[in-house]
Amino acid sequence: MKPSSRSAVAPFYVMEVMKAAAERHAATGDVLHLEVGQPMTPAPAGVRAAAAAALGDDRLGYTHAAGTDALRHRIARFYGDRYGVAVDPGRVAVTVGASGGFLLALLAAFDAGARIGITEPGYAAYRNMITALDLELVGIRVGPETRYVPTPDAVAAAGPLDGFVVASPSNPTGTTLTPGELRAVAEHCHRNGIRLISDEIYHGITYGEPAATAWGMSPSGVVVQSFSKYYSMTGWRLGWLVLPDELIRPVEVLAQNLFISPPTLSQLAGVAAFDCAAELDGNVARYAGRRAIVVDGLRAAGIMDTAPADGAFYVWADVSHLTEDSRELCARWLDELGVAVTPGIDFDPAMGHRFVRLSYSESTEDVAEAMRRIVRWTASRPG
Ligand SMILES: Cc1ncc(COP(=O)(O)O)c(C=O)c1O
Repeated sequence: MKPSSRSAVAPFYVMEVMKAAAERHAATGDVLHLEVGQPMTPAPAGVRAAAAAALGDDRLGYTHAAGTDALRHRIARFYGDRYGVAVDPGRVAVTVGASGGFLLALLAAFDAGARIGITEPGYAAYRNMITALDLELVGIRVGPETRYVPTPDAVAAAGPLDGFVVASPSNPTGTTLTPGELRAVAEHCHRNGIRLISDEIYHGITYGEPAATAWGMSPSGVVVQSFSKYYSMTGWRLGWLVLPDELIRPVEVLAQNLFISPPTLSQLAGVAAFDCAAELDGNVARYAGRRAIVVDGLRAAGIMDTAPADGAFYVWADVSHLTEDSRELCARWLDELGVAVTPGIDFDPAMGHRFVRLSYSESTEDVAEAMRRIVRWTASRPG
């Protein structure tokens, strides 16, 4: 028997790069990882201590499908502390990462066939999840003309939409919308009956102005967040949604059926994450240093066209003067330089062959050495 046609989604190509990098690592021991999209740091010490205590003391049974009261209250408080906006704990649903949250939000908000706009370039797994759920994916191109951020005009030009996903800072570009830009998009969406889904997973990792939350900008909007990036807890599989009234109960019921509850140990430990700012901001300071190394290194390598790297730990670079096939370029860099970088096709099926994404979440020494190798490689090219 055949698998379903909805399961025929594109593979996540970065996984293939990681596999090739791991093979090379096993064979030569020499790979510098600029393909990985996760912090190299562990969860903060306070979280690990809370997890150790919970492991000793707690039964670790299921929790409420929307998460423990303690964590939902702590997340609600975070919105007041960080952004000065009020969030009722009843609006918070704790989820299995942002991925689980996005799945719940899509299922709760949209019927099959709904038209969902997503930026190109944009995060691959969201695109593929939209397709797997029989929703209609509508690509909205963002480029240098608008600093790689979506505008109300670009959203309007996509035709009638039921939903629009914005990620600020974005993966793969790192670009962040100003509060005014985000508000303009949010208000456009609300006026036109488009439900905004705001992915705020890279909040906390910004190098200029902090990113604004979309909560409160569009009454129908949903916020998706995660402990994976700023909180450095990818494998703990913990995230959350902030929901408008009409989606609270549908998300709860869907979560009961799809997940029963988010991971209990992670929830018990995750409460402590909000009191670990000194350690986590130290991580961000190190990202800032590595970001400068990558941006300067790319310039020295003659790779001048990059998206504004306002946040996250990525630089999105146009390499079309070097290749028309960034996949082949990445294979060469891995083979000849031992530098693993992600080709753009994961994030942009139409134009990604002209781009690569460099991640600077790994050690400063590795990032610096990778950039030295890329600079030497471009300098040694004929012409
Ligand atoms: C933009 C964006 N959204 C969501 C996710 C999924 O994150 P999580 O680990 O919380 O499921 C990622 C992971 O890389 C991401 O880059």
